[in-house]
Amino acid sequence: MGREKPDFYALKAQREGYPARSVYKLEEIQQKTGLLKKNLRVLDVGSSPGSWSLYTLKLLEGTGFLVGIDLAPVKLKTFPPNAFFFQGDIFDESSFVQLKAKGPYDVILSDVAPATTGNRTVDTARSFRLVERVIEVAEQLLVPGGSLLAKIFQGGDEKVLLERLNTRFNQTKILRPKAVRDESFETYFLGKGLTLA
Ligand SMILES: C[S@@+](CC[C@H](N)C(=O)[O-])C[C@H]1O[C@@H](n2cnc3c(N)ncnc32)[C@H](O)[C@@H]1O
Repeated sequence: MGREKPDFYALKAQREGYPARSVYKLEEIQQKTGLLKKNLRVLDVGSSPGSWSLYTLKLLEGTGFLVGIDLAPVKLKTFPPNAFFFQGDIFDESSFVQLKAKGPYDVILSDVAPATTGNRTVDTARSFRLVERVIEVAEQLLVPGGSLLAKIFQGGDEKVLLERLNTRFNQTKILRPKAVRDESFETYFLGKGLTLA
């Protein structure tokens, strides 16, 4: 099936009011790990168009809060009072300052991904750099014991990032939810229980 044709998950997202099919990746990870629950302070990196944020806000049920950051604006119709979105670049110091002011966080979600070029070497290298930055942010803005879920493109040096997570988190896992398209080379790293450096 062509990438533009809506598949099972894209149609389900339309029916259920989510702006992107990626929500079902987070839903499956949630069902397997119980990562998200009420009262948590959550940061969503690469939050646009807003499916992960919307799903997380539903689980929070008005408790805790969610902060989202993306280069692009989120496309949600309503924003509950415990949701805050910044339009910005995760590499910028000014973004870090804004995220720090809202933190610390119990959970950092990152579905951040570069605009793909079709050149796997270029795309995996850009994904690597993004995830490396997200880990830097997580090491500074997560509470001790906090968790990080991050998407990474496979095929580059992703083992280096997993090793870094292994040194900083009590438990790490690699997850590839069913909603990831067969042809996609993305996977998710989960680090649970940030330890002190
Ligand atoms: C796959 S989408 C995220 C989908 C989102 N999780 C959802 O469910 O709606 C990846 C996002 O990463 C964002 N992104 C890429 N580079 C970024 C950067 N340097 N800083 C912030 N966001 C970035 C893109 O703008 C894009 O919206």
